[in-house]
Amino acid sequence: MRVLGIETSCDETGVAIYDSEQGLLAEALHSQIAMHAEFGGVVPELASRDHVRRLLPLINQVMQEANCAPSDIDGVAYTAGPGLAGALLVGASTARALAWSWGVPAVPVHHMEGHLLAPLLEETAPDFPFTALLVSGGHTQLLAAESLGDYRLLGESLDDAAGEAFDKAAKMMGLGYPGGPNIAAYAERGEVGRFVFPRPMVDRPGLDMSFSGLKTYCLNTVQACGGEEGMTEQDKADIAHAFQEAVAETLYIKCRRALQETGHKVLVMAGGVSANLRLRERLAEGLGKMDVAVHYPRHNLCTDNGAMIAYAGCLRLLGGELQEDLHIRVRARWPLMELAPIAS
Ligand code: KG4
Ligand code: ZN
Repeated sequence: MRVLGIETSCDETGVAIYDSEQGLLAEALHSQIAMHAEFGGVVPELASRDHVRRLLPLINQVMQEANCAPSDIDGVAYTAGPGLAGALLVGASTARALAWSWGVPAVPVHHMEGHLLAPLLEETAPDFPFTALLVSGGHTQLLAAESLGDYRLLGESLDDAAGEAFDKAAKMMGLGYPGGPNIAAYAERGEVGRFVFPRPMVDRPGLDMSFSGLKTYCLNTVQACGGEEGMTEQDKADIAHAFQEAVAETLYIKCRRALQETGHKVLVMAGGVSANLRLRERLAEGLGKMDVAVHYPRHNLCTDNGAMIAYAGCLRLLGGELQEDLHIRVRARWPLMELAPIAS
């Protein structure tokens, strides 16, 4: 089975073709980061308009690269939520129109299920059941993933998502958008131990998390160093280091606790923040001692992309997901736990 996947939930236009026998045939991505950077974050209307401009050329590009004619495509998967409503509508209406005209099913995909399944595209793919840490710009969740579509929430951030906290901390230091990769780069030059940030909610039982206090702590430290204008490059690096350590340590502690609860021996980590090398290192170091294997996607599949949507759509079609009517629906908010299990 061959599926065209379309991702337009936020600031990346992603398109890919996945074949259940041959794997990923082609993928293309246009990032809007440069366009939004001057505003310090994503401007929804600009995002939607740019998806309109980019999507069809990217679809043509992957169809050519994969040497596919429309008759070779068995389904069109698209991100139906959660995300920016206008941006989602661009992908949903394009996907539905193509699927209708090609006479194939259109498959709505949950963006976070796309992230969750991305590590399964790797050669050493983990099997269900596993414990999952989803860490993106909008979500920080720990789940027990029993089978495709059967996800149980174990804990989540009660305020900011980890990626959002990275972005806001970076903004305070004038490091630009998106903050995660910039904080990570500065952190490499940071002095170990000059600042120690708190590990929020680790001394309380349970698996919920909170990152907004860390953000306030960061702001106070930035101000103590003279604010964005007054601080030196070394101050920025030292704060970035302390911030990244605190996030990595907090996520590690919560993952360890989640694994003790589920008894799983596999942790799957996905979403933009899973690209963070220090977080990967901390999890490997700590969870390796518990004999837990940690899986994450290759670097370019951590952040938003079309491949994860094509793959999730293909698994759902193979699992016999029923077709919806022709209405085009998107959901800006959509809890992952509302998905129903799909027979494998
Ligand atoms: O999954 P994603 O591309 O979009 C959402 O679905 O939200 O995640 C984007 C988030 C941003 O907050 C970005 O700062 C963060 O992922 N991110 C990182 C890194 N690369 C991206 N955070 C920490 N370290 C990174 N290397
Ligand atoms: Zn995402």
